[in-house]
Amino acid sequence: MKKLIIANWKVNPDSPGRAVVLARKIESKIRPPKNVEVVIAPPLPFLSAVGAVLKKSKLGAQNVFWGDTGPYTGEVSWHQLKHFKIQYVIVGHSERRAYLGETDEIINRKVAALLRNEMSPILCVGETERSGDQIPEVVGQKLRAALKGISKQIISNLAVAYEPAWAISTNSAAAADAPDDAFRAKIYIRKILADLYGRKAAESIRVIYGGSVTAENIASFLSEARMEGALVGGASLRPDEFAEIVRIAAAT
Ligand code: PGA
Repeated sequence: MKKLIIANWKVNPDSPGRAVVLARKIESKIRPPKNVEVVIAPPLPFLSAVGAVLKKSKLGAQNVFWGDTGPYTGEVSWHQLKHFKIQYVIVGHSERRAYLGETDEIINRKVAALLRNEMSPILCVGETERSGDQIPEVVGQKLRAALKGISKQIISNLAVAYEPAWAISTNSAAAADAPDDAFRAKIYIRKILADLYGRKAAESIRVIYGGSVTAENIASFLSEARMEGALVGGASLRPDEFAEIVRIAAAT
């Protein structure tokens, strides 16, 4: 299974020119890794400009609307994203759940629309708080809710990102999860996927980690936590570090 390393640029940088410079720098520093898929998800208005310079990495999106066309002011649909040759779309990020009011039902619609149209949701699930090393049940509840009514026939393009909100680098007092706890979360997520879709199908779904991933800790998430990739925020804005993360992923 190829590892998945996704650059989540969030609302950065502040202009299309700077976005192109950043994308070019990343492209110039990464080798085309055979065993790693690299995805760059810039802000929507920069898709075209960034997409034009990507060769070794793929263009991704940070959000999507579930309809194709219609009266949904301000939204951008999966159908429109397809014109940019986008395969991967981040769905259900904790920042969208917290600041934009995304509910489990909305996330479920987005995941279903993407899978029905042969696109790949990167479904984010995680808890806002954790005490001790037990993975809170809310992680499983969010996962089940996001996958409600989605059949096994279309599930293979799914990837799940375990991303505890408290570990995201921009949160005060953030720190990356402990790799053995992240491993527990991975097992928990796989178990639910197996429960829903059977073991074989569950094993073909990549489970990745997000939250303060750096060049220093990526190896431990891939080896100790056995994650199949990473969702990278802050470090994806630093081309040298992001390229190093890709290099380590290719070698781990
Ligand atoms: P971070 O962000 O790597 O800066 O913690 C990850 C994310 O929010 O996707």
